Amino acid sequence: MTRIEVEPLHACFGARIHGIDLTQALSEDDLAHVRQAIDTYSLLCFPDQAMTDDAHLAFTRQLGEPEAEHITWGKTGQVAYFGTVGNVLDDGTKQDNADAGTKYQSGNNLWHSDSSFRETPSYVSILHAYEVPDEGGDTEFASMRNGYEKLANELREQIEPLGVIHDYVFSRSKIAPVDPNHAASLPPVNHRLVRTNPGNGLKNYYVGSHARSIPGWSGIDSRRLLDDLLERATQPEDIYAHHWHAGDTVIWDNRCMLHRGTGYDADRWRRRLRQTRVVGTDKGVVPRA
Ligand code: OGA
Ligand code: MN
Repeated sequence: MTRIEVEPLHACFGARIHGIDLTQALSEDDLAHVRQAIDTYSLLCFPDQAMTDDAHLAFTRQLGEPEAEHITWGKTGQVAYFGTVGNVLDDGTKQDNADAGTKYQSGNNLWHSDSSFRETPSYVSILHAYEVPDEGGDTEFASMRNGYEKLANELREQIEPLGVIHDYVFSRSKIAPVDPNHAASLPPVNHRLVRTNPGNGLKNYYVGSHARSIPGWSGIDSRRLLDDLLERATQPEDIYAHHWHAGDTVIWDNRCMLHRGTGYDADRWRRRLRQTRVVGTDKGVVPRA
């Protein structure tokens, strides 16, 4: 029997977990433990994993259906399950600060939830670190469940019935032009602003950089509310900054967590992480034109 040790990372969320080898098929018990830990802690870090892409994808499949990475899918119609995070290309060459790919990835430095712009957003992201900078390149996390818990009842009731439009082209065209095929593959989608975890009934709101507007509200009123909710969840004391070590596998619950990159000097450092996502179950609606 595995001895699982859980070490909290932040008062509101996050746990470092020892005693589970994610590179081997998990027992039913261990898998149930990981699923429950996702519902409870929202962010899990498993250090010292001897990960490979094959093991990473096999573990992803144990948690559910792997998500087709949206950039490859949108641009080419091909299904690829991995996204590379950082500045190292598949052939091993490093991109510098001035490279277009580095600029594109800086969109990840805005608070967001992965795939919130998809009709069916993701359940979790699984990110494994292969090469990390000595300085910078942390990933910060904050909880929209914690943000929701801090709201007065009146505001909770006000936001309960609302929708929220998440729109990739809206958020990312501020950073760099979005490829037209990619843009066409991701129409804006309307989600519930308040979401409930089906396992434990806990609620959170659902904002971040892709959140564009509240259906039926003016642009300015939408912006005020969405920015206010984002700010409430991301106060300095609410943030956990993950300083990466090679070998870390980190899983976060995209249904309720925000995260962002913090930047690093790409001229100086190599940063290479590989990511998969698991498809969620809560469907939004693509509004009719
Ligand atoms: C991600 C992400 C930010 C970073 O992996 O989904 O947004 O660079 N990462 O740490
Ligand atoms: Mn991300």
